[in-house]
Amino acid sequence: MHKEKWSHLLYRDLTRERHALAFLLPQTTSFAVMETDLLTEYERYLRVPELLALQKPIEARHHTDELLFQVVHQVEELWMKAAIDEVGRVIELLERGSGEKGAGESLELARSGLHRIYLIEKLMCDQLHLLETMAPIAYFHIRAGLGKGSGLESPGFNHMLRAVPQIDEAFARICAARKVEVIDLLRNPDADRMLFAIAEAMVDVDAAFQRFRSVHLSLVKRTIGAGTPSLKGNPIELLERNAQREFFPRLWQAREMLFRDFVPGELEA
Ligand code: HEM
Repeated sequence: MHKEKWSHLLYRDLTRERHALAFLLPQTTSFAVMETDLLTEYERYLRVPELLALQKPIEARHHTDELLFQVVHQVEELWMKAAIDEVGRVIELLERGSGEKGAGESLELARSGLHRIYLIEKLMCDQLHLLETMAPIAYFHIRAGLGKGSGLESPGFNHMLRAVPQIDEAFARICAARKVEVIDLLRNPDADRMLFAIAEAMVDVDAAFQRFRSVHLSLVKRTIGAGTPSLKGNPIELLERNAQREFFPRLWQAREMLFRDFVPGELEA
């Protein structure tokens, strides 16, 4: 446990604005504002006090790094919330894209939505590296307060597992409507440039999710070791198997299909 003296950090000098002073009460209570009506519009809009109250106060932390541990997990849940929202829109746009009217514009918007999901996943992956700075002994202490909780229970992650495959169903309907097979797009992207771009953006989304799982797997290994069962008693093989899963197996299989026709040639030096 880490206790620190209460210090009054000047949160906002409101006297100039004819208000009283508001204070951040330090790491102990995370956050407290003397008078809530003194909050700025920025704070009210973003609900900063509520947000900063969502992490354990310093005296309740099992280790100094628990703040980082909680923040990374909470931010990951927020990014997944944003990604899922985008997934819903992409599916709608793809559905609209199979109609005649305004199809091109809808498909272009679907493609940029997929790109946004990919960028979110990339951020999710990058943030995991922050926890690589945490010594195993820090997690040893933090873990004591986690009960039998596990990432398998992450609502955002499980929602993504359910929602993202629906993108492929919508994409398959457009391909059918346009009488194009994925393998045709790979053999000749000019067969339908827009559908090719969407298929490639879907591969980006799938690959970034796999990368998240693989970086997470390395994080788990370097923190608790490969032989330590999870808090639910599962072996690491469960994570290893899950890291192999794909959202859009058709798109990956089509690559194999393409290269089945490959005939090696002579080296042209
Ligand atoms: C030091 C940090 C971490 C450790 C030691 C750790 C450990 C683990 C372990 C042991 C599992 C397997 C759970 C089980 O079988 O019951 C797991 C699963 C999972 N964790 Fe973590 N984790 C860490 C950080 C994170 C972070 C930051 C996230 C962010 C969302 C996360 C999300 C997940 C998810 C989504 C799963 C399920 C993965 C799948 O099914 O592929 N974990 N974690």
